[in-house]
Amino acid sequence: MKNLMMNHNAKIYVAGHRGLVGSAIVRALHRVGYNNLVLRTRAELNLTNQAAVEAFFQSERPRYVFLAAAKVGGILANSTYPAEFIFQNLLMQENIIEGARRVGADRLLFLGSSCIYPKFAAQPMREDALLSGTLEPTNRPYAVAKIAGIEMCWAYNRQYGTRYLAAMPTNLYGPGDNYDLQTSHVIPALIRKLHEAGISRQREVVLWGTGTPRREFLYSDDLAEACIFLMNLNQKTFDSLVQSETDAPLINVGSGRDQTIQELAELIADVVGFDGLLRFDPSKPDGTPRKLLDTSRLSSLGWEPKTSLRQGLELAYQEFLNALDPATSPRGVSVHNPPGDKLLNEGDSRALR
Ligand SMILES: NC(=O)c1ccc[n+]([C@@H]2O[C@H](COP(=O)([O-])OP(=O)(O)OC[C@H]3O[C@@H](n4cnc5c(N)ncnc54)[C@H](OP(=O)(O)O)[C@@H]3O)[C@@H](O)[C@H]2O)c1
Repeated sequence: MKNLMMNHNAKIYVAGHRGLVGSAIVRALHRVGYNNLVLRTRAELNLTNQAAVEAFFQSERPRYVFLAAAKVGGILANSTYPAEFIFQNLLMQENIIEGARRVGADRLLFLGSSCIYPKFAAQPMREDALLSGTLEPTNRPYAVAKIAGIEMCWAYNRQYGTRYLAAMPTNLYGPGDNYDLQTSHVIPALIRKLHEAGISRQREVVLWGTGTPRREFLYSDDLAEACIFLMNLNQKTFDSLVQSETDAPLINVGSGRDQTIQELAELIADVVGFDGLLRFDPSKPDGTPRKLLDTSRLSSLGWEPKTSLRQGLELAYQEFLNALDPATSPRGVSVHNPPGDKLLNEGDSRALR
């Protein structure tokens, strides 16, 4: 990368560094030579504790902040704990955004999500679709909190002259993913289900829905590279993203390509070596017919993802196999959970993100 805005010695705080996104950002920062990272586990710094977050910022004074900490979950978690989703996410982001302002951090990147666009947004979804329609009811508390985070970045930029930007990633997958069959997204769920079907020589696997909904996916390491690319944009370009009075400071990050769930399942079956039949059960819910981000804003700045879906799936499968040994698992993935059909519930907001 030429003309880096983030100096290699600059202190960089990655909030949520053990999560899917945060861990990918840390890996990507290390790969390009950023080693002055400030990282805190939840046990060391509970981000919902305002006094603790304020003290942390005052003592560490990071110049750049990647805000990848959040309470995230599927439809079940969102509907069981809606109060926790709105409360914890609001607290975490307001503590970090305000802490960063107080110490004069140069730039902050807030992780939004494609799942906070309106339920019936025109496809592909452009950045200006935000707040243009009704939200998906199942994750509304989460989405409202995230939208408040974006609004907060925008308000701070206007009132305090800060440079805070929100990245809006599509569905992600990659190292450190969640393979718990009760709560996983569609890719890790399919990898596990088809892997286990292959091992037990099942002749057929039944998947929820018709297989026709179209979804977009991005490898988490590609997202992380996009995040670093954005934080390194020259000042004029970065300012054009964060200093508009009329446009919220946000930018979509996706692969720009979608495929049907059936195509995805067939690709994963091939990657994991499952040669049985994939049967779709149309009596189960499908979710939104299509979810694809319009990534033209990011493409016009010169960023494109590097990892094809097939390459990413091969990497993810290798990581899944490595994780079968708990000693080498990034999250101590348990493979002892009983398999359940629930894992392919495409109505799950995590799966739909
Ligand atoms: N995954 C996706 O497909 C996807 C897609 C689009 C957008 N995003 C966005 O990316 C962001 C990160 O998502 P993710 O998938 O990386 O989530 P994740 O894997 O669950 O990671 C979230 C991180 O936040 C930390 N955290 C949560 N509550 C905390 C607290 N009170 N104090 C300190 N740390 C806390 C977690 O710490 P622990 O490890 O201790 O739990 C974890 O490291 C979210 O804003 C999400 O909306 C994700």
